Amino acid sequence: MIAVSHLRKSFGGVAVLKDVNVEIAKGEVVSVVGPSGTGKSTFLRCLNRLETPDGGSILVDGVDVTAPGTDLATVRRKMGMVFQNFNLFGNRDVLGNVTAAQCDVLGVPRDAARRKAMDLLERVGLADRAEALPDELSGGQKQRVAIARALAMDPEILLFDEPTSALDPTMVGEVLAVIKDLAKSRMTMLVVTHEMGFARDVSTRVLYMDDGVVYEEGTPDEIFNRPQKPKTVEFVGRICLKQARDMLRLLREGILSDGRVDEIEAQMLLRLAEPFERFGDAKMNLIVSALRQMLSDGVISETESQQISAILGGV
Ligand SMILES: Nc1ncnc2c1ncn2[C@@H]1O[C@H](COP(=O)(O)OP(=O)(O)OP(=O)(O)O)[C@@H](O)[C@H]1O
Ligand SMILES: [Mg+2]
Repeated sequence: MIAVSHLRKSFGGVAVLKDVNVEIAKGEVVSVVGPSGTGKSTFLRCLNRLETPDGGSILVDGVDVTAPGTDLATVRRKMGMVFQNFNLFGNRDVLGNVTAAQCDVLGVPRDAARRKAMDLLERVGLADRAEALPDELSGGQKQRVAIARALAMDPEILLFDEPTSALDPTMVGEVLAVIKDLAKSRMTMLVVTHEMGFARDVSTRVLYMDDGVVYEEGTPDEIFNRPQKPKTVEFVGRICLKQARDMLRLLREGILSDGRVDEIEAQMLLRLAEPFERFGDAKMNLIVSALRQMLSDGVISETESQQISAILGGV
């Protein structure tokens, strides 16, 4: 469905994308991960031509969208995009946000556009907020409106650029649930994400980007549990430690301090613990020894260490 070959893009003499090659089939859910600044957003923006590539080709159903004279409106209609910061129209209500492009770009009659918008809002669980302005919504709700707005154009592919990273942790789940639901309906999606648990559960494939190329790709199991190349191994290791620290912070902030864990806390902790779950023994040992180190350095208390261990499954 999409075939990218030898894609290149530089900014001011710095080559961000050097030689990106990848094929994406219909119905695939592909997660794109990698360190900051390695061109993940640039890659997505080249796909729907928010950026003009310097070289290479991007075939969508056999048509090269980098060819001169390509109708950009058509390209963007095929490839909807959902941004980290929602980019809703602040002066229009929710319904207006989801109907605008249907009417203005596709020429759908107003009544039909409203019916479709209401169906989509129902799907993302926001039918009762149709008349709210974006400012009156939570971040999670805004992002669900942005997804409904993208879906209203009947895109063939949806591109997500870190759809949950601007959200309060308690709202990440509701947005991921909508994306998971889309994945079930076999929507083709490319998702730049730092949510490793999500990448592991939902994607059919993971692309690890580094050095201006797709440095390593594979199933979630291959990339997260058995990375082969040095930079991927290092990246996955760093994620482990970051998640261990996040857990520690939650503990410090007293999330478990009253000895009870409510539903939301349990969900947050489970999400943080997810990437650890299926790690092979070697990585689990790595985490355990990192925890021991933190304990012996006095960074964490004995009680905290025990709590973390309990969360990790009684290591
Ligand atoms: N319009 C632009 N003009 C100049 N430099 C840019 C532009 N867009 C991106 N860059 C540079 O290109 C590099 C890659 O940026 P990009 O946003 O694609 O990375 P990323 O992988 O999405 O990072 P992050 O994980 O932080 O979002 C960065 O060094 C960035 O500063
Ligand atoms: Mg980015």
